[in-house]
Amino acid sequence: MDGMEQPSPMSEQQDQVQQLEEHLKQLEEQLFQAQKLSSVGALASSITHEFNNILTTVINYARMGLRHTDEATRTKSFERILAAGQRASRITTGMLAYARNSSDRQEPTDLKRLLDDVLVLVQKDLQMHRIVVDLDAPRSVWAIANGSQIQQMLMNLIVNARQAMNEHGRLKLVIRDNPGEGWAEISVGDTGCGIPAEQLPHIFDTFYTTKTADARGQGGTGLGLSLCRRIIESHQGRIRVESHVGQGTTFTLKLPRSESPAGLIDTSAA
Ligand SMILES: Nc1ncnc2c1ncn2[C@@H]1O[C@H](COP(=O)(O)OP(=O)(O)OP(=O)(O)O)[C@@H](O)[C@H]1O
Ligand SMILES: [Mg+2]
Repeated sequence: MDGMEQPSPMSEQQDQVQQLEEHLKQLEEQLFQAQKLSSVGALASSITHEFNNILTTVINYARMGLRHTDEATRTKSFERILAAGQRASRITTGMLAYARNSSDRQEPTDLKRLLDDVLVLVQKDLQMHRIVVDLDAPRSVWAIANGSQIQQMLMNLIVNARQAMNEHGRLKLVIRDNPGEGWAEISVGDTGCGIPAEQLPHIFDTFYTTKTADARGQGGTGLGLSLCRRIIESHQGRIRVESHVGQGTTFTLKLPRSESPAGLIDTSAA
């Protein structure tokens, strides 16, 4: 019979569902990547500033080295130029690593290192807004995690915190190993405007934003926290927020902890 060779309507539907699911997964990956790049955009002006400062240092010390022929001055000039070049290279390397499209593999990852890498990128932005950073973290804390996604999450939380504070705030970053409960924990706290109780239930919704476009047309897309929530869910972790209007907000992330992998124990000085 002819009909026997036709795929049954049921399996055809299953195929379609599978195709749509794959398509959805691809779109989600693209959304993650696009949001990652747009969060770097929030840092464009501070990073441009930083490069300008570095170039000024390089130019001034090159001039000084050319003008003064004694060895001490020349050595000092070369040392300053080298240090400035190394600072620039840390930023570009960090930026390229951050923007790179990566897998969604989860593996033992040192949260302290991830935070340090994100801080290299946001440091100037914080400094330009006169924000003091309190960092309270052991040398390393390990979680089963996707490093690139955790960095994206930290970047979103830190940029949000900075935007909530304007000038003269305090950013409090804490990393804790909590073996008793099986979590590796990170919190990002600010002394900013806080979130009114009626807004709290919505902040993790996709496209929810209270940020209106500024003079340069830079408003919020409302994607930052919704991606944070998805990332935390894919790690079977927890995200919670505590906020007091006029005092500030703290986001706490909990990720499945991991023992520090054998052979990778950090022996560098603290
Ligand atoms: N640290 C914070 N302090 C005060 N309000 C916050 C804080 N973090 C988030 N919010 C509130 O939650 C909303 C949603 O945040 P989310 O990061 O998802 O989007 P956004 O920052 O507005 O836009 P985008 O991240 O796409 O640039 C913000 O518009 C803001 O109202
Ligand atoms: Mg945001």
